[in-house]
Amino acid sequence: MADVKKLYIKTYGCQMNVYDSERMAEAMGGSGYVETQDPAEADMILLNTCHIREKAAEKVYSELGRMKQLKLDKPDLKIGVTGCVAQAEGEEIMRRQPLVDLVVGPQSYHRLPEMEARVRAGEKALDTEFPIEDKFDTLRHRPKARRGPTAFLTVQEGCDKFCAFCVVPYTRGAEVSRPAGRVLEEARDLVERGVREITLLGQNVNAYHGAGEGGDWGLARLVWALSEIDGLERIRFTTSHPNDMDDDLIAAHGECAKLMPYLHLPVQSGSDRILKRMNRSHTAESYLRLIERIRAARPDILLSGDFIVGFPEETDADFQATMELIEAVNYGSAFSFKYSTRPGTPAAERPQVPEEVKTERLYRLQELITRQQRAAQDAMVGRRVGVLFEKAGRMPGQMVGKSDHLHAVHVTGDVAIGDLRQVEIIESGPNSLAGRLLSS
Ligand code: SAH
Ligand code: SF4
Ligand code: F3S
Repeated sequence: MADVKKLYIKTYGCQMNVYDSERMAEAMGGSGYVETQDPAEADMILLNTCHIREKAAEKVYSELGRMKQLKLDKPDLKIGVTGCVAQAEGEEIMRRQPLVDLVVGPQSYHRLPEMEARVRAGEKALDTEFPIEDKFDTLRHRPKARRGPTAFLTVQEGCDKFCAFCVVPYTRGAEVSRPAGRVLEEARDLVERGVREITLLGQNVNAYHGAGEGGDWGLARLVWALSEIDGLERIRFTTSHPNDMDDDLIAAHGECAKLMPYLHLPVQSGSDRILKRMNRSHTAESYLRLIERIRAARPDILLSGDFIVGFPEETDADFQATMELIEAVNYGSAFSFKYSTRPGTPAAERPQVPEEVKTERLYRLQELITRQQRAAQDAMVGRRVGVLFEKAGRMPGQMVGKSDHLHAVHVTGDVAIGDLRQVEIIESGPNSLAGRLLSS
């Protein structure tokens, strides 16, 4: 097959980019490309980028610098930048890095095949329009490969919330939800291809309001409809905004057996003064009350969050309020970041916190989170949990999977990839749990 070309995609950023990379590979499949894990043998390289923090964006330029040699070795190699950096600074990329042939934003990548043809003909191609047509609909009937037991499924994109620090509303555009029927169709297709766990994705996934039978569906309704698909055993969703956590969704956490007991619910800060400046439109207190209601519905739910330290004008007292909120919630895990100035966002113009103060605060916060994470893991010892096995472990005969609460669990015994089994947790290690298979 002389015509087969190789595509290498490197994915940065959030899970939505992981999902998009899969869709881009499918789109390029129609133009005769198969994926490779080796950039040196690629005929086309796509960097699917993230713009959320300064460092994330800078990585793209250093990666492109490293690719110079590949292009010298293989003059036919085409290099493309996709994702959120492409959307935010596409023209600048083309100017700064002449070896880039193609730039396409996260809303336009269904047009990749035609752009590839132009690039092959020696042109440069740039597309960062927010199109009116549904990109997923355009990609719907592409041939798809068999796949592992877990999958992401984007149901909602974009954001209208405009937190003062965040680029997402600019890189991903306004909030849009996919019609429920399309989501269900894609989920059934995934299950037919071997998927047993689906994580629904959106920048604000719980703001989902897709057109469905009988009118507008919220996320809870969608979760319940998905739970009726035979063979789909587990449902998760991420990322959620506290203000969009409605009663139906909270109730589903208590009542829908397939909805897993893990919730990522970022709060960013525990100081009301800072939350207000962040334009978060919730308070620390309202967040804590919300957590209480969620835990009342599902007592063993494991909570996770995102935190920003050193937001402009954050004082020691503000930071202390964040530490107190973390103490009060007791997280199962959390992600934390130093505030990073993003040009064009309102917070970029405000008085900045010195770097060394950010560093020290991040260190203290992460120490607390690590302690909580460890305690949550240790508390699993002696409990029985479901584990969906995803791959072989490092030791002979060992298999690794994720528990209901999203902990990595390893066992030794007779299980296959894709098996969902009951496991008793016997030991808690630094990054994973050891379990014993219970008879099925
Ligand atoms: N939509 C999600 C978050 C998307 S971005 C939500 O609202 O929860 C993921 C995380 O990156 C955010 O939760 C925030 O903690 C972090 N983040 C976003 N912009 C940032 C910035 N300018 N500096 C540091 N961290 C940032
Ligand atoms: Fe960014 Fe805020 Fe929207 Fe999340 S809710 S994507 S942090 S603007
Ligand atoms: Fe990054 Fe874009 Fe996701 S900025 S976090 S890849 S939405």
